[in-house]
Amino acid sequence: MAEWRFYGRRLELQQLVDIFARNRWFFVKITGRRRIGKTTLVRNALTTCSSRRIYYVPIPDSGDAGVLSSVSDALDTFQVPEDRFPRPRTLADLAKLIEALARDGYVVVLDEFQYFNRKAFSQFCSLLQAAIDRLAADAEHVPGGLVGHPPGPVSRQRPFSPHTFAA
Ligand SMILES: Nc1ncnc2c1ncn2[C@@H]1O[C@H](COP(=O)(O)OP(=O)(O)OP(=O)(O)O)[C@@H](O)[C@H]1O
Ligand SMILES: [Mg+2]
Repeated sequence: MAEWRFYGRRLELQQLVDIFARNRWFFVKITGRRRIGKTTLVRNALTTCSSRRIYYVPIPDSGDAGVLSSVSDALDTFQVPEDRFPRPRTLADLAKLIEALARDGYVVVLDEFQYFNRKAFSQFCSLLQAAIDRLAADAEHVPGGLVGHPPGPVSRQRPFSPHTFAA
């Protein structure tokens, strides 16, 4: 098999690395068609930022229980301490957890965020939106940040962040 290489994304990679290194609130949207390299780009940037605490979770195409189970598995994988960050039992807990992680300095990556854009998750998306608004309002004092799509269809997104990477 040919050796795998990471082609043609140096600029995007550097931009992401710079944002992750800042210790200030950020909200980065990674957009692009399927299989274009969004996940690979983020994972490469995370690997480069070895000093940051990271929480990365691929959101599964499932209901509440499946999402919460994946979220908890990923919390264990990334050794997020359970005493300080109890595993969420509801989607409302999850929105609170994401805010708490960002306030504590974590780089939070919600990959495959599009699975939250379903009716069953609309209340969760509102809660997450409110959390994002609070974090943005307090940006100077929030050392962590979030990577993912904002809730809601792309066409109705509000411009939260200047950092949109269209891969
Ligand atoms: N810069 C790159 N150079 C070479 N190969 C790459 C690059 N980026 C991604 N790939 C390869 O392309 C494939 C798709 O990448 P990836 O899974 O990151 O895409 P994606 O946009 O996250 O896809 P999806 O929309 O399904 O989530 C993978 O096999 C990956 O190894
Ligand atoms: Mg992906």
